[in-house]
Amino acid sequence: MSDSLYDGTIDWTRYWEDADRNDRKDASASADLIVGPLREFFEQRGVPGSYADVGCGPGAAVFETAEWYPETTVVGYDSAEPILEENREKAHRGLRGNISFERTVLPEFDPDQQFDVISAFYTLCYVDEVDQALVNLFDAVAPGGYLLFTYHNRYAQSIFESIAESPHEYLDETSPWDPDHFADRFELLLAGENLLSYRRIHDVLETWPQSIWSIAGKADRYDAWRQNPLVFVPK
Ligand SMILES: C[S@@+](CC[C@H](N)C(=O)[O-])C[C@H]1O[C@@H](n2cnc3c(N)ncnc32)[C@H](O)[C@@H]1O
Repeated sequence: MSDSLYDGTIDWTRYWEDADRNDRKDASASADLIVGPLREFFEQRGVPGSYADVGCGPGAAVFETAEWYPETTVVGYDSAEPILEENREKAHRGLRGNISFERTVLPEFDPDQQFDVISAFYTLCYVDEVDQALVNLFDAVAPGGYLLFTYHNRYAQSIFESIAESPHEYLDETSPWDPDHFADRFELLLAGENLLSYRRIHDVLETWPQSIWSIAGKADRYDAWRQNPLVFVPK
């Protein structure tokens, strides 16, 4: 990855324009970590009539949901047009009529409909005004619906600080992050600008978040669940 990609976190449009197989895998954590608990959440809390995933990347959560529930209207949002276009072609090839892709750049999120469930996985750490992003996402959830997201907390910040101090000690070619650009990519998180906690989420949304692991089986719990919680907020 070239240095010019990192100019205040990461230029995601350039990232997806140039992404090779490894880059794709490195920015598709949902495929391995989220789709299992997400399905369990839907099964336990009710299959949504409409679902949006924001910061969808290659779209594991939206493509899977569209396949599990053909009656559900599914929309994937991302800030980067190249990955949206790729996803549209994939949906078209798969004749998935219940899925579409739109551009939004968080904290901006103002869709022309409300959704029963909205999610954002591994994306808020790249967003500067995270409080406003949460408010806009929650506003777009229909009454009785849910906002689901992963976030980084103070514990994550201290782990990331250690990595940023000696990136080559912690990261190699098997790691999802390039050691030469780790500190640039996670600049906001390292500066503590978009860290979240249950208390902060509550203060912003006036509703307490709940852990997904109170619903989904602990067998599906990924290793970093303490520093990178996966929560839902009922509306
Ligand atoms: C690490 S990837 C995660 C992709 C997917 N959610 C997953 O977990 O597999 C972060 C994604 O968020 C998108 N993104 C970054 N900043 C964004 C913003 N401000 N608004 C919307 N999407 C954003 C990027 O283009 C990228 O596709």
